[in-house]
Amino acid sequence: MMKYNVIKKQDTRTYDALQGEMKRQEEGFEMIASENYVSEAVLEALGTVFTNKYSEGYPGRRYYGGQEFTDTIETLAIDRAKKLFGAEHANVQPHAGAPANLAAYSAILKPGDTILGMDLSHGGHLTHGHPLTLPAQIYRFVGYKTEADGTIDYKKLEALAKAEKPKLILAGFSSYTRQLDYEKITAIAKKVGAYSMMDMAHIAGLVAGKVIPSPVPYFDIVTTTTHKTLRGPRGGLILCKAPLAKAVDRAVFPGLQGGPLMNTIMAKAVAFGEALKPEFKKYAKQVLKNAKVLEKEMRKYDAMPLFGGTDNHMIMLDTVKSYGISGKEAEKLLDAIGITINKNVIPDDPRGPMDPSGIRIGVPAVTTRGLREPEIKIIAQCIHYALSSGGDTEVISGIKGTVKKLCHTFPIYRRVSSR
Ligand SMILES: Cc1ncc(COP(=O)(O)O)c(C=O)c1O
Repeated sequence: MMKYNVIKKQDTRTYDALQGEMKRQEEGFEMIASENYVSEAVLEALGTVFTNKYSEGYPGRRYYGGQEFTDTIETLAIDRAKKLFGAEHANVQPHAGAPANLAAYSAILKPGDTILGMDLSHGGHLTHGHPLTLPAQIYRFVGYKTEADGTIDYKKLEALAKAEKPKLILAGFSSYTRQLDYEKITAIAKKVGAYSMMDMAHIAGLVAGKVIPSPVPYFDIVTTTTHKTLRGPRGGLILCKAPLAKAVDRAVFPGLQGGPLMNTIMAKAVAFGEALKPEFKKYAKQVLKNAKVLEKEMRKYDAMPLFGGTDNHMIMLDTVKSYGISGKEAEKLLDAIGITINKNVIPDDPRGPMDPSGIRIGVPAVTTRGLREPEIKIIAQCIHYALSSGGDTEVISGIKGTVKKLCHTFPIYRRVSSR
């Protein structure tokens, strides 16, 4: 693990905060479904001199000189992304998932066009039409919902698409736990003459590991973040069919962004290289197993996971129904025992997003740390006891001790460095 000796000498205030964060990460379990621990190789790449270089444009077509090595790096990242996902075209420049989505929309749509995407309280992401976002000011978003059993009624979706005449049907989510039927969604898009796009940010690592079906063959455009289950640096990626390549590239640069973050692109290349290795498949498989065990254990405690269970890396719980406490209260209790999760709205949540009815729990990070089924059972027990504790300080401190002990058995970076 890096020592950061230069920062230590030069800037104690930032160094101290870094030390605090490193300790926080080591001594607690990260179960926010969108987080993970990158490898030391990815961390090293982020700290390279590629951060010094301006590389506006694309490999072989740059606006500034001195690009022989940036071209090598970006081409590597593109080729590996294409290989990893079997994509016809890849743009590795989006700074994050939100700009990747905005660039993708603008590549194929005109202001005022309609996008049919997943309702936000049913799992859709902010960038899929939250009124406070820029995309929602540019485009007209209409939401489709999940049914009471957690599935999507594709006949209803088709009827909605026929009524609303969207230019884009958008799939993808931040807090939905079931497998989507890509074939049905893209067939509906074709029927109504709309483009199809999947935002696979949450599940990209599971797709890369080939443990769940890939949306890439079906959709015109697939966007993703490169962090989360994919376990790369924080960043965005757009994959698309060859005929849309030019429009997508133009939408990213010069449409939305300036110079790419070349150190991050190097880190993306490194992470894609890791995801192409057989070990990553094992990791992805274990993520699915761990999530399933978490679901089953929570069921044993009569805490019913939403959407009828999970097919991916996370579960959603209605804490009001299961424990008589809000998502915010649940988040606080779990924070107190050293398990970090996030409060989350549930379908058609009667409460507001700052104090919603549920929580989202994900296993990608703890799986990277080496936790398997037996440890997930302990974690589930800790979660259940904490949520039913009523805040009893003795109970909380007892569970915190168990969590801390388990954390010490599974250090983050000793294990990760052997990847
Ligand atoms: C489905 C989905 N898309 C896009 C994003 C946005 O990614 P970023 O935070 O990198 O902008 C997220 C982030 O959580 C997400 O879950």
